[in-house]
Amino acid sequence: MTTESFTPHAQRARTITEQHLGDRGPLMPVLRDLMEEFGHISRDDVATVADVLNLSVAEVHGVVSFYHDFRTTPPPAHTIALCRAEACQSVGGEQVFAETVAAHEGRDDVEVREVFCLGNCALGPSGMLDGRLHGRLDADRIAALTGDWR
Ligand code: FES
Repeated sequence: MTTESFTPHAQRARTITEQHLGDRGPLMPVLRDLMEEFGHISRDDVATVADVLNLSVAEVHGVVSFYHDFRTTPPPAHTIALCRAEACQSVGGEQVFAETVAAHEGRDDVEVREVFCLGNCALGPSGMLDGRLHGRLDADRIAALTGDWR
């Protein structure tokens, strides 16, 4: 196939993958780079990676689907990642998570997801709001911090 037949996205995915051809164990670095470039790894990206790295689509898909941090769809505008590990659980993290999920139900511009320990255990419940770490979270504080997300 000639490169002229690729979309700009597909060509970029191919270029990113080819940059790792000399690496030992290139799959994970390629997938991380695709996530950084596109915010997700599409089905077409999986096929491109498989083609360039001479792997099966099933092998690449298996790795993409195994790791929670690899997305297969474009990310929403905002992300709330709340810690559900033990230290945060012990100070109400489960309730904060449940209340936050309920507060954002039906919004396709906000994703609420779980993470397990952000290294901020002493200030739990902890979470990342659009990639920024916050401690001592509760539903009211999250609402205040995300109030301008509408
Ligand atoms: S357990 Fe929540 S930040 Fe460590």
